[in-house]
Amino acid sequence: MPESIPHPTSHPARPRVIVVSGGTDGMGRALALARLERGDTVIVLGSSPAKGQRLLADAGKIGATDRIDLIQVDLSSVARARAAIRDIAARHERIDALTLFANRQAPKRTVTGEGLEQTFTLYYLSRYLLSHGLSPQLGRSQSGVIVNVAGVGMTKGQIHWDDLQLEHGYGMVTAQLQAGRANDLLGVAFAAQPHNPIRYVLYHPGFTKSGDLSPLPAAMRASIRAAARLSARPIAESIASIHEFIDTPPAAPLTAIDRDKPVPLTIETLDPANAERLSEATRTLLAFIEREHEPG
Ligand SMILES: NC(=O)c1ccc[n+]([C@@H]2O[C@H](COP(=O)([O-])OP(=O)(O)OC[C@H]3O[C@@H](n4cnc5c(N)ncnc54)[C@H](OP(=O)(O)O)[C@@H]3O)[C@@H](O)[C@H]2O)c1
Repeated sequence: MPESIPHPTSHPARPRVIVVSGGTDGMGRALALARLERGDTVIVLGSSPAKGQRLLADAGKIGATDRIDLIQVDLSSVARARAAIRDIAARHERIDALTLFANRQAPKRTVTGEGLEQTFTLYYLSRYLLSHGLSPQLGRSQSGVIVNVAGVGMTKGQIHWDDLQLEHGYGMVTAQLQAGRANDLLGVAFAAQPHNPIRYVLYHPGFTKSGDLSPLPAAMRASIRAAARLSARPIAESIASIHEFIDTPPAAPLTAIDRDKPVPLTIETLDPANAERLSEATRTLLAFIEREHEPG
């Protein structure tokens, strides 16, 4: 029998180095622990010290203390996100997969210390910074892949081009949908870069039995919990395909999956011109933040 030639991106058995942004709770936490059980090295980002300690304890129970690197960071700060990226880069020369989960609901418009709207900054901007900031390390992997877990395939919501910070007409859902659509465009722009070896996967997990509801009003929490009992997917089911994206990244530069179904890259929310427009606006915004808040 002729020996089969392995596909260059297919190495399911090789231990990976995986970054999990938002890995202290929900789907990210489940992915982090599952990858540790498989023998991978996992770098977890999250802001809560208590959740971080619980994760470290659980990693200890599966004998993975020496393969978990916990970075406690508030990713709604551009400066702190950049510092976390520098830490990761200093400690890990190669990264095989960057997985992006960090998000939090904000019922009231909240402005960060850098003057930015919180949801835009945490849910979109931190993912932009991590995707681009860790590209050199991902590029050193034979199978570098980014999995951005958000809401691809949804066409609700829009980029408020004249009011990205939602100073006018803020709403929690408006902010979540805008950042979701911004993540769609982040994937499109990232994958369009010339000579880019890193695969980008936009993944919508569907309604899942996860999500920190603590920022929400009690009545809303109760109704989401009731709906989740009826129709949300178990966490393990929602993250199953993420293991596949990591172990065998797709061949195409950009892949979009809504639960189990491929999303056509031609849908309006993945428009390349809008992706380039948002990239440009993001670069301008980050340059402004750097000038104002990160002198020298
Ligand atoms: N659950 C669903 O039904 C569903 C459906 C569609 C899409 N999604 C998307 O899937 C992703 C993951 O959802 P999930 O349900 O797993 O969420 P989750 O359980 O609420 O977990 C969110 C993660 O983000 C971290 N995080 C929040 N604020 C942070 C901050 N300021 N700095 C650093 N980390 C921060 C949290 O850690 P700390 O608390 O330690 O900061 C936690 O690890 C989200 O993008 C969500 O929009 C979820």
